[in-house]
Amino acid sequence: MTATDPSQMRPRRFTADGPLRGRIRVPGDKSISHRALMLSALAVGESRISGLLEGEDVLATAAAMRAMGAQAERIGASNDSGGEWLVYGVGVGSLLQPQAALDMGNSGTSTRLLMGLVASHPITAMFTGDASLSKRPMQRVIDPLSLMGADFTASPGSTLPLMLRGASPAVPITYRLPVASAQVKSAVLLAGLNTPGITTIIEPVPTRDHSERMLQGFGAELTIDINADGTRIIRIRGEAELRPQRMEVPGDPSSAAFFIVAALLVPGSELTIANVGLNSTRAGLIAVLRQMGGDIAEVNPRQVGGEPVADLLVRHSALTGIAVDPAVAPSMIDEFPALFVAAALAKGRTVTTGLDELRVKESDRLAVMATALTAAGARVSEQEDGLTIEGTGGDPLPGGGPIATHLDHRIAMSMAIAGLASRNGVEVDDTRPIATSFPTFESLLDGLSQ
Ligand code: S3P
Repeated sequence: MTATDPSQMRPRRFTADGPLRGRIRVPGDKSISHRALMLSALAVGESRISGLLEGEDVLATAAAMRAMGAQAERIGASNDSGGEWLVYGVGVGSLLQPQAALDMGNSGTSTRLLMGLVASHPITAMFTGDASLSKRPMQRVIDPLSLMGADFTASPGSTLPLMLRGASPAVPITYRLPVASAQVKSAVLLAGLNTPGITTIIEPVPTRDHSERMLQGFGAELTIDINADGTRIIRIRGEAELRPQRMEVPGDPSSAAFFIVAALLVPGSELTIANVGLNSTRAGLIAVLRQMGGDIAEVNPRQVGGEPVADLLVRHSALTGIAVDPAVAPSMIDEFPALFVAAALAKGRTVTTGLDELRVKESDRLAVMATALTAAGARVSEQEDGLTIEGTGGDPLPGGGPIATHLDHRIAMSMAIAGLASRNGVEVDDTRPIATSFPTFESLLDGLSQ
């Protein structure tokens, strides 16, 4: 788990080091890796997952599935393409009572999705996490899962540590998502797996659909209807029987984001990022950067693990500030810190709105990025639901730091990229959180500048 002892902090100054050229491959998708482990753990028999992200968040999910009876182990050494894992599942309805608290580390996705799984099993689980996760709101999953019959005792403010007593049998519900959240949607769908009858989600604003795709792939009866206004009605029939699978996890577009932005910003760059997932519910950043003038080409489009994938060829580009359409926010919700860095070097003003959700991520990403970019010499103003950034028109940022990353991996990586596009470098106060989602980030970066 991410160490939270401040005396162990690992600071680093990231400096300009010439163009980014060549070819890299980013690790497996975090969202898909969590779901692959969870569904494999619920399918009776042996599933094989290749390209699994071996970041701390996903390892927290693996440990929790083991604590509830599944076997999940890496086979062989992990390599450039990630880990090859074997999972022996217990079957829907057969998760075992964990003997100790489930330590979720920094991972909101592990927490909220596993709360869904536990909610419809006759077991009780205690969820704990690090200082960042223990501040994040859980009421959004407590609400629907309570309607299904689960019982919660949370810490003040509906946060972790939290005790959850599952319902048996749980009650199927029809639930309209009050926030655009794939985690809430997925928690209810996963609870629906072991709930007799049909559980229905009404999703007015589409969010990442990996759960739906993968549940269908594992053989669950799941249907999606789309209304004339775009609202999605997702139905799952419990008590489902899942069939074990062999699957390959595509590269994570949210990890690729840092290298895409770096290659656009650093003069002379021409970088290929291989095997990037391009599911339309995740690809908002690429569309926005293209709108700003970014040269990003898709090479060799194909399908990997039921998801669209391509290699991205990214060339240094002169970017222009824009008003970002708030409707794209769900399809790039984790990429705003990287976009803010791109905006800081664009020509003119970039305005973002509708981003209230960024305040409840691993850190308050609006406040933390406003402070961090200002410390690096960018011109930023913070509003309630977004940032306004006046770009340099391509000139490097002055640089500065140390930047407080607040246990947030994406703040650390975004400001590392800002350092590559700065005159004096940017010092990040702690690089340890990067291991939650992208343990090879620094070695890939260092490898490019040799
Ligand atoms: C995720 C959903 C998003 C995203 C998170 C991963 C998922 O969270 O920010 O990193 O895997 O379902 P929300 O559901 O809170 O938007």
